[in-house]
Amino acid sequence: MAKKLFLKTLGCAMNVRDSEHMIAELNRIERYDLTQDESEADLIIINTCSVREKPVNKLFSEIGQFVKQKKKSAKIGVCGCTASHLGDEIFKRAPEVSFVLGARNVSKITQAVSTDKFLDININYDESKYAFGEFRQNPYKAYINISIGCDKKCAFCIVPHTRGDEISIPHEIILSEAEKAAKEGAKEIFLLGQNVNNYGRRVGGGKRGEMNFSQLLTLISKIDEVKRIRFTSPHPLHMDDEFLETFSSNPKICKSMHMPLQSGSTQILKSMRRGYTKEWFLERAQKLRQMSPDTAISTDIIVGFPGESEEDFEDTMNVMEEVGFEQIFSFKYSARPLTSAAQMTNIVDAKTASSRLKKLQERHAVLLDKMTPRYKERVFEVYFEELRENGMIAGRTSQNFTVCVNGSEDLLGKIKNVKITRPQRLILYGQVV
Ligand code: SAH
Ligand code: F3S
Repeated sequence: MAKKLFLKTLGCAMNVRDSEHMIAELNRIERYDLTQDESEADLIIINTCSVREKPVNKLFSEIGQFVKQKKKSAKIGVCGCTASHLGDEIFKRAPEVSFVLGARNVSKITQAVSTDKFLDININYDESKYAFGEFRQNPYKAYINISIGCDKKCAFCIVPHTRGDEISIPHEIILSEAEKAAKEGAKEIFLLGQNVNNYGRRVGGGKRGEMNFSQLLTLISKIDEVKRIRFTSPHPLHMDDEFLETFSSNPKICKSMHMPLQSGSTQILKSMRRGYTKEWFLERAQKLRQMSPDTAISTDIIVGFPGESEEDFEDTMNVMEEVGFEQIFSFKYSARPLTSAAQMTNIVDAKTASSRLKKLQERHAVLLDKMTPRYKERVFEVYFEELRENGMIAGRTSQNFTVCVNGSEDLLGKIKNVKITRPQRLILYGQVV
């Protein structure tokens, strides 16, 4: 009989893909069916994120809950970025945990399940050949890793310490993965990496790759069955002209660009070690708007980084206004172990950081209220992916806007033109035309 797996995935798209990979690996040895009910599971896995402190703090109370509810024989495993940086400490603080696997080591899941107190958190493990288990949670969209790890060492970020050095996956593997997924019905290919547009910097074995990101995008776009290509996350520093040109001119590349700003103050950017200035970011964003006026730009912003003055924060607000980001993901700075910013002493107090976050989000809401009505009566191509309640079905435009229409599941997996009748801040409602 099949075993039951309860798998909780936190954090980014890379973690979602790692979870798929673990499911695939487990099923190579014996069948595991997914369950949403931890009390009937034979195996409980938490795939963790450690980018900010809060979810890390919650981990141990969560494990405590699982211990109470689980079947006596069920095993609990902790995987992902928090596993990478806490390692052995997890066994000490939660003795019920039977294995700990770092973000770079999830390929070893079957070994972990069959060995008591299995621990592997080696961030230099070269996983580039193994990162592709055959399991997809979403039949319409295929996540594909193109690189793992990150060489950048931004002062606030723990990721390089949990996912290790950057390695690009050989393009032949990516291409065959994309071809296979597309032939099986995934019209959208979603390329993943911490720094996707630095692709080719180092392939397995340490050499420079033969292909850069723009060339990789072009290659994938030649697969007939692929209708849409997305990627996350690019780094503003690597948005050179060739990349912007390829992005703007290739109709299969979705017109949604993530440009993680982090801060609009050149001074703060410098102490964050982001490698670009405010002016440079603005110039790249303007160039993108010029070359591809239909592109929606999203961003990540951190407020309250050590040393951020009121003036620095105003710079961030101004860049937000000037670029007019269609979407922002904004966070209060959270000091993380192993990072260089954790040593900084010029801390911004929590109250100031909270009030800046609120101001930023309120100003962005005003921006959105100005932008949203423009979409009324506009016709977008929508790829339908998800059934919603009340006879609604949801999909995404090339710009990554969510669109909802009345419709049946026949629409799933199809691309249709939709005229927007009722645009709202987060969802555009419309009708198939
Ligand atoms: N290269 C990755 C970055 C992963 S972290 C990517 O672009 O997806 C995702 C976002 O979390 C970062 O862009 C940053 O805005 C935020 N973040 C990272 N470390 C943080 C910290 N210590 N405190 C607050 N936010 C942080
Ligand atoms: Fe983190 Fe900067 Fe890399 S945000 S993942 S160190 S590009």
